Amino acid sequence: MADDKLWGGRFSQKTAASVEDYTQSVDYDCALYEEDIAGSKAHAGMLAEQGVLTVAEAEKLSAGLDQVLEEIRSGKFNWKREYEDLHMNIESRLTEIVGPVGGKLHTGRSRNDQVALDFRLHVTHRLADWKIVVTKLIGVLVDKADQYRDVLLPGYTHMQPAQPVSLAHHMLAYAWMFRRDFERVCDCMKRSNVSPLGAAALAGTTYPINPASVAEKLGMGGTFNNSLDAVSDRDFVMEAMFTGSLMMTHLSRLCEELIIWSNPCFGFVKLPDAFSTGSSIMPQKKNPDVCELMRGKTGRVYGDLFSLMTTVKGLPLAYNRDMQEDKEPFFDCDKTVHDSISIMAEMMSEMGFNPENMRAALKKGFLNATELADYLVTKGIPFREAHHITGSVVAFCEKQGVGIEDLNLEKLCEFSDKIESDVAEVLSYDAAVNRRVSHGSTGPESVSVQIADMKKWLES
Ligand code: ARG
Repeated sequence: MADDKLWGGRFSQKTAASVEDYTQSVDYDCALYEEDIAGSKAHAGMLAEQGVLTVAEAEKLSAGLDQVLEEIRSGKFNWKREYEDLHMNIESRLTEIVGPVGGKLHTGRSRNDQVALDFRLHVTHRLADWKIVVTKLIGVLVDKADQYRDVLLPGYTHMQPAQPVSLAHHMLAYAWMFRRDFERVCDCMKRSNVSPLGAAALAGTTYPINPASVAEKLGMGGTFNNSLDAVSDRDFVMEAMFTGSLMMTHLSRLCEELIIWSNPCFGFVKLPDAFSTGSSIMPQKKNPDVCELMRGKTGRVYGDLFSLMTTVKGLPLAYNRDMQEDKEPFFDCDKTVHDSISIMAEMMSEMGFNPENMRAALKKGFLNATELADYLVTKGIPFREAHHITGSVVAFCEKQGVGIEDLNLEKLCEFSDKIESDVAEVLSYDAAVNRRVSHGSTGPESVSVQIADMKKWLES
């Protein structure tokens, strides 16, 4: 053997140092050691159940694997790049500890199904953590909604003032987005938590293995159905990264609003000091850097998703070494998504709002114009005409620098003789919100229903 590699038998030349460096993955796949060792213990146990190994051999392997685990956890393990990846690092050390029986662990298994198993377990574990932080964020948004039921602000379309909405309704809109994200994560887990072990290199194995027993030992929901698919499928990683990308999209939209809302021209929110930064030259500045970075990091998570999609799209069946490039994008995506959601939850829980500035913005934007048009319709005027009349009122108010509600009845009647004293209650912003009784609207009844639904969901 030219090398002490586990696969060195047919080679007469040592691997070039540059190639060793270029092809190794241990620098980063070492992060999968918990899953790799759990998978190997399950595999050894199954081989003993099937009579492929003796019980004594399986026990020896299992104890050796525990020792390796302990060495890694305590930082004593010596990872070697020349062993290529974590699988071969662990197996080599195991064989040092337990002797020749270490060579029996890989019976009926390949690194191709082994790495797929490790990564499926890892992605599943990380998704479980995403669920925890997303739930926390939803909880904060629902608390804010509960707290600010009576605060009104302009709702926008085209980023132009449109109609008044409650701050509660606005917070709940995000809570619903993140609730769908939570459901998407659960859905991904159904597919990631499936064991590929037993597919071996690509075609299955001649040993009398029992994949279902491995899956059960690892708490996985089921096993693969096709060995070629099992070793070449990376859908579960891409799905997870798509779900992460969509969460970042939602976070980024919220960040964008917080950035606008914190601008003094709006002044709707007071960013907590602990989540803002200052300028080294302009003493008055308080910058929304956390929001900006989160918006920026969204692009990076999309990049992670696209890097793997691009890697996989041209691959023939079954395993190809290109697939080793699946790990770093996911690790990056995982850290970014997890930390972003968690920081957003912390930041939102400390966010201060300025209800007075929100109310002042309602007046500036003629947010009761639709109410006046709807009022004219109730007086028998066709909607198009009502729309036109109201437009003239707005144009007049704009010239005068006043709100519609500031005009007296006499003035209003110059625009339409159908206007009567009952117009006053229609023009109040609170009335505009309170009168919205349709399903899912910003009206107080709908907001109460949404908050109750969210609270019930959070409890379960
Ligand atoms: N480090 C490899 C990966 O991450 C493990 C599987 C290698 N398989 C092989 N046949 N070379 O994909």
